[in-house]
Amino acid sequence: MTTPSTPRRVEGISLDPWYNSYADRTAGLSASEVRALFAVASRPEVVSLAGGMPYVSALPQDVLNGSIERVMQEQGPVALQYGGGQGVGVLREQILDIMALEGVRGSADDVVITTGSQQALDLVTKLFVNPGDVVLAEAPSYVGALGVFRSYQAEVAHVLMDDQGIIPESLRETIANLKAAGKSIKLLYTIPNFQNPTGVTMSFARRAEVLEIARSNDILVLEDNPYGLLHFGTPAPHAMRSLDDDGVVYLGTFSKTLAPGLRVGWALAPHGIREKLILAAEAAILSPSVFNQLIISEYLNRTDWMAQIETFRETYRERKESMIAALGEYLPKLSWTDPGGGFFVWLNLPRTSIRRRCSREPSRNWSRTPRAPPSTRMDAAATTSASRSAIRSPTSSRRASAGSPPSSTASSTC
Ligand SMILES: Cc1ncc(COP(=O)(O)O)c(C=O)c1O
Repeated sequence: MTTPSTPRRVEGISLDPWYNSYADRTAGLSASEVRALFAVASRPEVVSLAGGMPYVSALPQDVLNGSIERVMQEQGPVALQYGGGQGVGVLREQILDIMALEGVRGSADDVVITTGSQQALDLVTKLFVNPGDVVLAEAPSYVGALGVFRSYQAEVAHVLMDDQGIIPESLRETIANLKAAGKSIKLLYTIPNFQNPTGVTMSFARRAEVLEIARSNDILVLEDNPYGLLHFGTPAPHAMRSLDDDGVVYLGTFSKTLAPGLRVGWALAPHGIREKLILAAEAAILSPSVFNQLIISEYLNRTDWMAQIETFRETYRERKESMIAALGEYLPKLSWTDPGGGFFVWLNLPRTSIRRRCSREPSRNWSRTPRAPPSTRMDAAATTSASRSAIRSPTSSRRASAGSPPSSTASSTC
């Protein structure tokens, strides 16, 4: 007679005695190589372009201090209390004004505030994805989202993109193949503006075509837009959500236009989905931080926040231009994207020397597409001096003779 396999502590056979007790879904929770890379990147001799960290030092500290103080003086007991699972009403109204800048119209009733847009990604996936369901995503795509999809045991199918974004023919073909294989496709995840990791922006015509393909195949679009307002002069086309109220869940965040440490993002969802999102959010965290929401609301109320976004745009534009100039100067034989906004430049690598001497974010982090060429994401929001010295270093490492000790710059992250 076989005994049912009840989870048990297993002493002595594994570093983790609970190894046999984990739920099946944890099989998708693999340690990101990005985490390992950050450990390397934090070494003092390494110049890192791996990050993608907003330049929070450019924020007006005194203004933020004032917002925090006013919240405590005027609404202390509310700020320190639990709040509603959907988020603070006044902030949801203010978010409507922000989304309107990208053509999105909606009701504050359909906005759900989350702990960063990362949590919104998690909640939407939790609502829709059963193990084995398919999520379509650009090739390459944002590692943080791919990690969420894997954690719900989704199969991720990557769709090819070019300099206009998702290629409609590739999308149609991928959907047809998956349907022929009997797969259930639940979501199309896309970052249409200044995409992470490639920096590519989807053209307006492509947005309309991609939406049409999704609609005709009953696939919900998950539009993730953290970088849209950070353009370098020419605004991105209007959001996909501006073209379709029912078929798109739109995600936004204050992480890139204000501060990621506040961990406040949001989802704008069709009414029925919004209802379920609130329930899922309450189950996960009861309510997002009221304190942080009120600080943001106060900041938006009392400051010229668009002027601050303008400062970020200018800073990131200068840094990106410096990176592109350094690439032209030191790595003229390679090719790269030249984004119109956001944080990332995508560099296509040769198959040899530079790859050996750089710690870089491996391209398989972003996509498991077979035969994807070697390539890497570069943080164009890094300081000018960091990007110049990191880009210069691979060429100096190539020139170093065999057996010579690695110079400090040779181990730069690129
Ligand atoms: C494309 C994309 N989506 C979502 C996130 C998560 O952002 P948040 O800080 O709002 O959770 C990031 C963070 O870098 C991102 O690049």
